[in-house]
Amino acid sequence: MILRISLILLALLAIANTRSVKNYETSKRELEEYIRDKKKDIDPRFRPHYHLAPPVGWMNDPNGFSFVMGEFHLFYQYYPYDSVWGPMHWGHASSPDLVHWKELPTALIPEDEQCFSGSAVGDSNTMVLMYTAHSATDTRPYYNETQYLAFSTDGVNFDKHRGNPVLARAPNGSPDFRDPKVWGRGRYWYVVIGSKTDDERGRVLLYRSTDLLNWEFLSVLAESDGDLGYMWECPDFFELDGKWVLLMSPQGVEEKGDRYKNVYQNGYIIGDFNYETHEFVPEVEFQEMDYGHDFYAAQTLEKEGRRYAVAWFNMWNVTHHEAEDGWAGMMTTVREMRLFNNRILMKPVETTVNLRQEPKLEGQLYLNEVVEFGQAVELFIDADLDQKIELHLDGRSGALSKVWLRWDPQVGKVVVDRGDGDVRQVEWEPIGSRTWRILLDASSLELFCGEGEVVFSSRVFPLGGWRLTNLSPQPVNMLSYSLRRSVAD
Ligand SMILES: *[C@@H]1O[C@H](CO)[C@@H](O)[C@H](O)[C@H]1NC(C)=O
Ligand SMILES: *[C@@H]1O[C@H](CO)[C@@H](O)[C@H](O)[C@H]1NC(C)=O
Repeated sequence: MILRISLILLALLAIANTRSVKNYETSKRELEEYIRDKKKDIDPRFRPHYHLAPPVGWMNDPNGFSFVMGEFHLFYQYYPYDSVWGPMHWGHASSPDLVHWKELPTALIPEDEQCFSGSAVGDSNTMVLMYTAHSATDTRPYYNETQYLAFSTDGVNFDKHRGNPVLARAPNGSPDFRDPKVWGRGRYWYVVIGSKTDDERGRVLLYRSTDLLNWEFLSVLAESDGDLGYMWECPDFFELDGKWVLLMSPQGVEEKGDRYKNVYQNGYIIGDFNYETHEFVPEVEFQEMDYGHDFYAAQTLEKEGRRYAVAWFNMWNVTHHEAEDGWAGMMTTVREMRLFNNRILMKPVETTVNLRQEPKLEGQLYLNEVVEFGQAVELFIDADLDQKIELHLDGRSGALSKVWLRWDPQVGKVVVDRGDGDVRQVEWEPIGSRTWRILLDASSLELFCGEGEVVFSSRVFPLGGWRLTNLSPQPVNMLSYSLRRSVAD
């Protein structure tokens, strides 16, 4: 009840700010017209059928992943005017079930500040966004990051708070102070924010508040010992199956064998947390969440005891082939997370089955046999893990990039090889199911091994639908469904 009253008051405060709201509303309307017009120029060849992508332009980190006002919301870092990164807006989509996504008007547009990543909370009446305002300054390093609020009473239109910033500086004054993830517990709101130490080690800060306006610094939840990077972005912090998980995206972690091969990492530390002392005690070392080429800035939400994650299905500093088609970047499928034996298992959200449609294909595929599919397919592959497996996925009309999936029992690693020398591989010891579940969309592959103990998310660019060839020295059992469209085209 306390929370509810404070949220309504905040919303009223924002609405009182009418003069600048008028200009802001005009800019928003012009932006929606621009998007509608620009959409006509998009080349659809790589547009996903069931993954969220920006209507036009550039998308990166997921933001404000939440269940508010009876719907799921997924916002994202958005630059509508080009298919490369630019001044950050917040794009917005909503969903009844985490697989069907409806495009909504752009939620935040930059003014003096760029609208960097953040999160959303609310109840049935008001939704509050907390985000990082990234502003230019005159002195080194020429930017400053503070935390802003914005409100909505309809879940579609957002007004920025008049009294921004609500958090003006990190305890050590670091200019890198971003990506607030808020949650409520009892009479408090809590927030974790990514930052760094004075000597360039990533860290996560914990604060609390009773009204979202006034924040009290509680503790440094965790920080890099030097090996875990110079900056920790996009933190999230939650309980999962009796433990606490600190999820974050560290920058500056060095490649080590098969690990940390992306430019920036995304992973988690399992431990214990005490709300009285505000102390997080790490118990298990940092682990990557996903082993594919394209996975970053994952964020989670909890609903009815289930914890769901979604991530940016791209990576920094790589070629985004779809950029020449008028858009760039998409989200992974939403996954449900569980904790088992000191690691996170990820499975596609249960409602993914609602996307299945005819034709369903089932049968054995012998050496060098080929099956052809449309652009959106779900595949189940069962084979003898005591023998080698090799599957080749290509486009029916060629490809800008294709992929080989391999298993060698002598090595004990699952391999995802796009043929460009940048091979991803990781040890797999099935804890139950021995099946590979593969989600293919027009320009992506997600491979879930067994119970989700090993997952690879990689962008792949086939042309004209998918073609699967079994290159294994054994027949493999295959079951496939074609998947229906669940996002705007
Ligand atoms: C960032 O700007 C705020 C004012 O909006 C100021 O209070 C704060 O000290 C600045 N932080 C740094 C690191 O300069
Ligand atoms: C990524 O690319 C940017 C821009 O070209 C460059 O400034 C940055 O150093 C690169 N980062 C890494 C880790 O390669």
